[in-house]
Amino acid sequence: MTVEQYRRICREEGPCYTFWIHAETDRLLTGSDMTRRLTVSWPDRLRSFIGYCLSEPLYRAFSLVPHWEWGLSNHDVSILTQRHPSLTGCRAVHLTDLHLDRYYPRHDKIVTTVEQLHPDWIFITGDLLNVPEGLPHLFQFLARLRTIAPVYMTLGNHDHYSGVPVAEYAEQADRHKITLLVNQSAIVSTARGELVIVGVDDPSLHRADLRCVPPRADHRCTLLLAHAPNILDYVDTNYAIDLILCGHSHGGQWRVPGIPTFWLPPGCNGRVAGWHESGAHRLYVNRGLGWSFLPFRLNCRPEIAVIEWIEEQTPTRTT
Ligand SMILES: [Fe+2]
Repeated sequence: MTVEQYRRICREEGPCYTFWIHAETDRLLTGSDMTRRLTVSWPDRLRSFIGYCLSEPLYRAFSLVPHWEWGLSNHDVSILTQRHPSLTGCRAVHLTDLHLDRYYPRHDKIVTTVEQLHPDWIFITGDLLNVPEGLPHLFQFLARLRTIAPVYMTLGNHDHYSGVPVAEYAEQADRHKITLLVNQSAIVSTARGELVIVGVDDPSLHRADLRCVPPRADHRCTLLLAHAPNILDYVDTNYAIDLILCGHSHGGQWRVPGIPTFWLPPGCNGRVAGWHESGAHRLYVNRGLGWSFLPFRLNCRPEIAVIEWIEEQTPTRTT
């Protein structure tokens, strides 16, 4: 089935907001296209191995004292203003790095904040959990978000370290009517055009496959969801991407005044937080909501980002 055929079905059979396309063939992707793994160098293999060996035992150790965590109970809300004629008046919430293995009261606070922001869509850029036992807790949280707005998410390095198969994430996501994008794209119709949401697998583990980015088109805004900031090093000028959202850095997680950020996972390439640019592309690094390896954050509050698309400014005329 081609994209045009699918669009016709959507028009004739009522609203349908997602489908998968391939940039080169303009055909719908099938399940086998989802997780094509790219070549991995030996340092990356070593890092994945070390990450896998350290991550799970540490999370299990700290789960023995489940309520001991510090610096995670309050979050900041960052407003990102964007302009695109197809999305004027729309609003989205971006969350990342949930690392949600146990549902805490702070997750209720996050849901309440998201609800009060009235988003049209919710985007989540990976590191959903750390251990398989976290799945019911994670989807308890995601199901609550889904009552607020459609949720689109992709995977991060810890989602792979956890050992949970991609198919299991996909099945759970389907069951909760959540859109998991793993080297796939979804198209959402808006009042003035369309929003393409591209979700790639984790760039820090070299799983991202940008061939799912569709070509440039009129009245189309393309948003790229990727877990790690090094995706900015892979998007050349040919890719029609209006905005990239990612996480992975945790903002450094521990910030000691007067000392440069000393903890950044591979795949950040020095990008700690906030806006970064390369050529025509802009990337926002969200500090995320959870923790890695040690359950505390220092001078680095969790972050909820809000993207607001505002009216295009009329160019000033000179006579
Ligand atoms: Fe993370």
